Amino acid sequence: MWDMSSPSLSALQESPVAVVGAGAMGAGIAQVAAQAGHVVHLVDAAPGAAAAAREKLSATLERLVTKGKVTGDDAAGTLGRVVVPGGDTLDLAALPEVGLVVEAVVERLDVKRSIFATLAEHQPPSTVLASNTSSLDVTAIAEGLPGEGRVLGLHFFNPPPLMKLVEVVRGERSDPAVLEVAAELVRGWGKTPVQCTSTPGFIVNRVARPFYGEAQRLVEDGTADPATIDLALREHAGFRMGPMELTDLIGQDVNLAVGTSVWEQTDRDPRYAPTALQQDLVAAGRLGRKSGHGVFRYDESGRPVDA
Ligand code: NAI
Repeated sequence: MWDMSSPSLSALQESPVAVVGAGAMGAGIAQVAAQAGHVVHLVDAAPGAAAAAREKLSATLERLVTKGKVTGDDAAGTLGRVVVPGGDTLDLAALPEVGLVVEAVVERLDVKRSIFATLAEHQPPSTVLASNTSSLDVTAIAEGLPGEGRVLGLHFFNPPPLMKLVEVVRGERSDPAVLEVAAELVRGWGKTPVQCTSTPGFIVNRVARPFYGEAQRLVEDGTADPATIDLALREHAGFRMGPMELTDLIGQDVNLAVGTSVWEQTDRDPRYAPTALQQDLVAAGRLGRKSGHGVFRYDESGRPVDA
């Protein structure tokens, strides 16, 4: 069980946070935590990626100030709390002690396990270790690590500053007290936590897989073009985004990795099989908004130009 000397919610609220992986999700989670008042150590394996994410955050905050959504002081405070440890070599063993680590790297079990092994060895036993995985088994990420009870999933949605839902995912050995304190922490960040067990895709991704897959199969069948499918789902079903534009936002590569992971963990249930269209997009480098071209084309600011 979790050590009773572990931090209370109030101690966790005052502790620094580390975010490992400064891509779409990690950068956004760092922003959320910094806006909630935490000092955030943001790191990434790719040289310069964390610094670039901080630069982008600076521009985002400037835009929010211009729009009157945050004050200049708040923006400066948020940016000032995001720390990018120096040097281009990622050394997780050298991370300062923090209350919470959120891992948001590539969706691969071996990579995540190796990161958690280093964190479990070098962070104090009271540090809560969370993965932002969309589909991988939290039990498998934590298996055999010292203090497995403090490992859980904290699954944010894209983009983290705007999306309120966070799935708080319980691995087989996750300590209920850790789940509770993590849920309350993110509630304090303005999020809506929901708890679930670690089954493939958890709640949202399990339900969303057939949604994306069937939409892609409709395109393959020639039933309708992507823009028409998105329009139909937005207008009729009340979705804010259609499945095509949503997978472009997620990233076609991320979506393929998550879909494949759910498919493999469900004994290759055909409902979750990656479509040929999904694989072709990734093979062609059409990764979505982040590459300027996915199902649709995007301008430099990420606005669709042909949808
Ligand atoms: P991304 O591709 O934008 O960013 C991943 C980052 O991790 C990259 O900057 C990469 O350099 C870094 N990285 C890779 N291996 C690393 C390592 N060993 N150590 C440190 N950094 C490393 O991916 P994205 O979209 O941010 O996804 C990250 C995680 O979040 C994945 O597990 C994904 O399934 C999950 N997720 C993604 C969502 C989305 O809509 N894109 C939504 C919710 C969860």
